Amino acid sequence: MDIAGSAALVTGAASGLGAATAAALAARGATVYGLDLDKAVAAAGPLPEGVRLLAADVTDEDQVREALAAIDADGAELRLAVNCAGIAPSARILGRKGPHDLDLFRAVLNVNLLGTFNVMRLAAEAIARHDADEHGQRGLVVNTASIAAFEGQVGQIAYAASKAGVAGMTVTAARDLAQFGIRVVTIAPGIVDTPMMAGFGEDVRAGLAASVTFPQRLARPEEYARLVTMIAEHDYLNGETIRMDGALRMSAR
Ligand SMILES: NC(=O)c1ccc[n+]([C@@H]2O[C@H](COP(=O)([O-])OP(=O)(O)OC[C@H]3O[C@@H](n4cnc5c(N)ncnc54)[C@H](O)[C@@H]3O)[C@@H](O)[C@H]2O)c1
Repeated sequence: MDIAGSAALVTGAASGLGAATAAALAARGATVYGLDLDKAVAAAGPLPEGVRLLAADVTDEDQVREALAAIDADGAELRLAVNCAGIAPSARILGRKGPHDLDLFRAVLNVNLLGTFNVMRLAAEAIARHDADEHGQRGLVVNTASIAAFEGQVGQIAYAASKAGVAGMTVTAARDLAQFGIRVVTIAPGIVDTPMMAGFGEDVRAGLAASVTFPQRLARPEEYARLVTMIAEHDYLNGETIRMDGALRMSAR
């Protein structure tokens, strides 16, 4: 599909992978609408040309519908939706203070899995309204899992479950949306150097980098964004979860 001239929705666009993706898509000529929580939108610095941020919680049907209506009102043709919004609190199933808090588990599933599903279904509806290209293609949804979907570490039970859900939706979502000419691809990043990782000290970050097979460093947000543009431009990629992890296989801790 052509990125230039299309409109793209990127969730979690105020930070990390979403911000890098919004910038990369805009640099390739897309009109980018970034969604993020209102406090993150308010705190965002200057945006690259071609990127606009809209405040919406991905878990809220009305807020996502409103954002899509604003894109439509601009006369922009939505072709691409990239789900980057996510949270990653850690807790064990059974810890020193007792069993895993059920509300915390719910909250992680709500943002990472339900939020991704909510945006995917409403963006697909918007994309399906536009004409198909000469190959019958209308657009693409890229979701973000994590290698924790496959080898979650100690303390990642809620996160791993949510990301396994995102990976698990991929083939069935591609099948559901095939009749509309919409592809669905999931990226499972390893460890990317974003604000989500900034909470760790230098020694932990160095240890994480050393655990990567090659290249022995954290991935850069721009490398995730580059993968999104590669997927967009590769019409035969569909229904697959692609690891972007430098061959890292997570250990238990
Ligand atoms: N950084 C990594 O190493 C890594 C690895 C694997 C997967 N991921 C996944 O990639 C995605 C992006 O991560 P990141 O590292 O850029 O994180 P980040 O914390 O830098 O950015 C996440 C963004 O999502 C937004 N967000 C959170 N909840 C939201 C909601 N309910 N509605 C709208 N926006 C919301 C946040 O405000 C933030 O701007 C996440 O899904 C994360 O789980 C990250």
